[in-house]
Amino acid sequence: MAIEKSSKTVNNSSGSSGIRKGRFAEGMDPLFAKFNASISFDRRLFREDIAGSVAHVRMLGTQAIIPAEDAIKIEEGLKQVLDDFENGRFEFQEDLEDVHINIEDALRKKIGDVSGKLHTARSRNDQVALDLRLFLRNQSGLIEAALLDLDAALLETAKYNIDVILPGYTHLQRAQPVRLSHHLMAYFQMFRRDWERFIDSKKRIDEMPLGSAALAGTTFDINRDLVAGFLNFSRVSRNSMDAVSDRDFAVEFTFNCSLVMTHLSRLSEEFIIWSSAEFSFVDLPDEFCSGSSIMPQKKNPDACELIRAKTGRVYGDLITLLTILKGLPLTYNKDLQEDKEPVFDAVDTVLNSVKIMTGLIKGTKFRAERLLDAASEPYLAATDVADALARQGLPFREAHARVGAIVRGETSVTGYVPPTPEEMVESRCQEGATGKQSVIRQMEEGEKFLLQNGYTPRADG
Ligand code: ARG
Repeated sequence: MAIEKSSKTVNNSSGSSGIRKGRFAEGMDPLFAKFNASISFDRRLFREDIAGSVAHVRMLGTQAIIPAEDAIKIEEGLKQVLDDFENGRFEFQEDLEDVHINIEDALRKKIGDVSGKLHTARSRNDQVALDLRLFLRNQSGLIEAALLDLDAALLETAKYNIDVILPGYTHLQRAQPVRLSHHLMAYFQMFRRDWERFIDSKKRIDEMPLGSAALAGTTFDINRDLVAGFLNFSRVSRNSMDAVSDRDFAVEFTFNCSLVMTHLSRLSEEFIIWSSAEFSFVDLPDEFCSGSSIMPQKKNPDACELIRAKTGRVYGDLITLLTILKGLPLTYNKDLQEDKEPVFDAVDTVLNSVKIMTGLIKGTKFRAERLLDAASEPYLAATDVADALARQGLPFREAHARVGAIVRGETSVTGYVPPTPEEMVESRCQEGATGKQSVIRQMEEGEKFLLQNGYTPRADG
């Protein structure tokens, strides 16, 4: 079947700024022009792109690859372009393919043909790799800060509720009484590991790719260390072919986001269950719930449900990235343009979810009496009774069987007073356990971690 050729083509993709000028006789098919363009989403890299260009042109001037006065003109022009952007005056042109060409074109309109010297010793391939690294370095900082806030909210809630006891669960069956603080601090530990993961991944983001040019390096006498210094990178990439095609750092970042979402969705699920009439363990804050359009009595845990569902989105972002990279030959391939939307989506979803969970925790009321009541069911003492028999010399397996028989109603105990939830919790006082002193030590250690990383405790304790 013959494919009909579009009657009209567009003189786009940088026709005006020149990247099509030499090689092509025909314009682009209009549908393909749209398909090929990334400006609708990569405009988000505007500031990073300008920062990278400023560093690059300073280096070109310093190295006398272009005249110093041209470098100054270009830098000033770039600053005007940024200024337009910051003040909402920048006009994006859909037909200029991507953010790089949009900026290049705007620069040409500001300072004329000298702007064409900016792209000396550079390709969009190393340029976009740099932009994404700069972007993720920034976003990592925002997510790290949000995770510390979340941990601070968990810690403060744990402190406030130190004497609250509830049943701990395995298989969602009541198992043994625990402190609510201990339960909350379990999530504190998860989000702390998440924070560490973002810190660690920054080591691999922290590599400056400019100078790789299209794939093989450049014939100009550039100074890559200078550019790295301008942009606050601690090292330059070691292999130009790897540098223009590597997106491992973005995959890793998106994995980190996925795991944050995993933890958030577990916590969300607990709040959803706990807020049901069947449990009635918590009262979620109105600010994070919605009502039903038909059932006046309803208060739904929407924030938690949405976080639970958005976890799937972020997993999707991760799988998208991995799949884009799978089987890609070296070096740059246009496939890599598709890396941005999943990364942006993961970043936004995680940041919003973490912030919403933080607000939700701060406003949640735990029903202490109801929790204690649930923890007071006598069978929750079964392990402790078996432990007591074992302490008297009975092999634990035998003790386990005897208490099991009591629970089943086969035998009974007389004259035995089962321990209270408080006593059971307090008899577990080793490092990492749920006894009060253990939990206090855990919270102190957690607070030290937060303080070392810039957290200030609330005045009201
Ligand atoms: N918009 C492109 C991207 O996001 C920029 C790099 C284009 N490079 C190229 N050789 N066409 O990947």
